[in-house]
Amino acid sequence: MSKPLYTTAEPQKAAQGGSKLVHAFGALADLGAEVANRSNFSDTIRTSLHLLLGSLGIMRGGVARYSRFEGELSLAAVRGLGDEFPLAFSLTREDEWAFLRCGTVALEVSDARDLTILSTNGWILEAKDIELIVPLVVHDELLGMLFIGEKASGEQYSSHDKDIICAMGRHIGVAISQRNLLTELERKADETRKLYDEMRTTYNDTVRAFAAAIDSKDKYTEGHSTRVGKYTEIIARELGWADDEIEGASVAGYLHDVGKLTVERKIINAPYKIDAKESKELNRHPAVGYEILMPIHHPYADVPLAAKYHHERLDGRGYPDGLYDREIPYIAKIVNLADSFDAMTTDRPYKRRRPAAETIEDLRKNSGLQFAPEITAAMFRGLLRETTGESKEKRFRKLLGREYMETENLTPLIQHALDNIGATQSITLSV
Ligand SMILES: [Fe+2]
Ligand SMILES: [Fe+2]
Repeated sequence: MSKPLYTTAEPQKAAQGGSKLVHAFGALADLGAEVANRSNFSDTIRTSLHLLLGSLGIMRGGVARYSRFEGELSLAAVRGLGDEFPLAFSLTREDEWAFLRCGTVALEVSDARDLTILSTNGWILEAKDIELIVPLVVHDELLGMLFIGEKASGEQYSSHDKDIICAMGRHIGVAISQRNLLTELERKADETRKLYDEMRTTYNDTVRAFAAAIDSKDKYTEGHSTRVGKYTEIIARELGWADDEIEGASVAGYLHDVGKLTVERKIINAPYKIDAKESKELNRHPAVGYEILMPIHHPYADVPLAAKYHHERLDGRGYPDGLYDREIPYIAKIVNLADSFDAMTTDRPYKRRRPAAETIEDLRKNSGLQFAPEITAAMFRGLLRETTGESKEKRFRKLLGREYMETENLTPLIQHALDNIGATQSITLSV
């Protein structure tokens, strides 16, 4: 009698093998999806471990991450190992090299006693029925370890089971690798951000120091550049500019008179109205300022332009180039208003500061001639915010003094001026 090709139990076994394979593929696909979802790393590792253990009916296990710097494996997720299971294992360099040599393979705890980790911790692993350890190696880097306990069925692990465990282990290894890369990237981004902030602080401090140097040359208008920087900032904010644009505008204000550093001190400090020759010398300062600022790499493109054109007027009667309205860079128009406002509201050697009502009326009258109406309107809105108490910030009050801001009927005066200038739409500073 010829021998049957297979016994009656074999087709059943083959069917079971097929369904196991489908199950393993399903678990791998789930694991892949879990690894791709990087929203919460701890959840990813925990879910991955549960998928792995569940797919093969394993009672208990754990996933540890490896820190080469600390030479330590620390548990990232566990199931069924109890509180007495160590949270971390030290790893010798020899063990690390041995794991790197063998890659992601399932090692029987009982067969790998020559590893220090097992000679030291073997007893606890056996006490918890850990049968396999699987180093997680990705791109020649040890990233972690799987601790795999016994199967619920009590069966030994087959080579097929080990292949599935290793395939899933590789997925988990990739998840850890991605996480490490992300952490490193975040650390570098943080470092760059800190460096940028430090440079920005240094830049702004330098700008202020420069402004103080410019102002120290002129004993009568002490603090002029600093105040113009602050008024420029207020106006830009009222125009609704973004924070970095506002910062750029204030820098332009602080540095607008940098060219005065080359003008003779006796002309700047002349206690009388200077003559034509002296005036010509003084009027070089916008062009000189531009030459000084141009070679410097500013984070804001318009800073040198503000220095060059802050004495231009909309009606073309300004200097150095007699530009008309649209030819004048927008930032220069803002600085022009801030500069003029400070000139009107501070004492000069040959004239006292103007009363508030007169200043407001002057700004209104000259809107459209010297000043851009929408920029004057922005300044009036800022002033109104303080005189009406809408803003608790005392920006103008700090610069002009309480008495000036408490001028009788100032609010209706500003409101009237605001209602009588044709404000148009604002343009933004290019940075
Ligand atoms: Fe100037
Ligand atoms: Fe000025």
